[in-house]
Amino acid sequence: MNRELTIDILRYDPNQPEIKPYIASYKIQEQVGMTLFVALNEIRKHHDSSLKFDFVCRAGICGSCSMLVNGKPSLACKTLTQKLDSHIRLAPLPVFELIGDLSVFTGNWMRGLNERLESWIHHKEEELEVDKLEKPMDPDVADDVYELDRCIECGCCVAGCGTLQMNENFVGAVGLNKIARYQLDPRDKRDEKEYYELVGNEDGVFGCMTLLGCEDVCSKNLPLQSKIAYLRRVMAKTALKKKD
Ligand code: SF4
Ligand code: SF4
Ligand code: FES
Repeated sequence: MNRELTIDILRYDPNQPEIKPYIASYKIQEQVGMTLFVALNEIRKHHDSSLKFDFVCRAGICGSCSMLVNGKPSLACKTLTQKLDSHIRLAPLPVFELIGDLSVFTGNWMRGLNERLESWIHHKEEELEVDKLEKPMDPDVADDVYELDRCIECGCCVAGCGTLQMNENFVGAVGLNKIARYQLDPRDKRDEKEYYELVGNEDGVFGCMTLLGCEDVCSKNLPLQSKIAYLRRVMAKTALKKKD
C-alpha cells in the first residue's frame, strides 16, 4: 500500500536574508517506484512552486541533484522513497555556495579544483604533431582510466568529508581521484615530482584522514579508498626521494 510521506526541507534564500532558515514540512502520497526527484516535483507542483532544487538528467549522470537525504549526501534522482522511512529530511549539501533551498553551486567549486589540479592531459610540446595518429592505449589501462573518469562531480564526497569541513583548501576525494586518473594515463607526461607539487601536502593526500566517508557516499561507487591509498604510497615514495 502506498504510504503518506512527510518531507521536511530546510529552506533558505540567501537573497532574502531577512527570512531566517526554517524547516518546511510537506505531505505527499507515495507512488510506485517514486524517487525523491519525483517527490520534489510533486511538492513544487502541488504545494509550493518557489521550492528550489536542481536536476538535469534524472538518471544519475549529471550530478546536479545531490543533497543531504536524512543527513547523507545522495542523488535525489537515484533515491527511491520506498527505501526510506515515511518521514524524510532534506537539506542542501554543505561546503558549496547556496543558491537557495536545496540548490547549491557545485560548478564554481569544481572549476576551481580542476584549475588548481590542472585536470587535463599534459603533453610534452615536441609530441604535439597534430597530423600523427594517436598511439593506442593498452585496453587494461584504458579500463582503469575509464573507471575513474566516471566521476560526475556531484559533490557528495566533498559534502561527506570531515577534512573538508575543517580545511576548505583540501582537494577532497574528487580531487585525489582526478590526480590518480591522470597519473594512470600514459598520455599525461607529468612526472612524480610535478604531481607531488599538486597534492603532496596537507591540502592534498597527506591531509586526508582516511575515514572513507567519501567512498560510503560516492554516487558512482568509485574505488576511492584504493586510489587514495595508492596516491599516498606514490607521494610518500616521492617525498623520500626528494630527501635523498
Ligand atoms: S578518506 Fe579522506 S577524502 Fe575521503 S572523506 Fe575521509 S578525509 Fe575526506
Ligand atoms: S568521486 Fe564520487 S561522490 Fe565524489 S564527485 Fe565524483 S562521483 Fe561524486
Ligand atoms: S538529475 Fe542528473 S544526477 Fe540526478
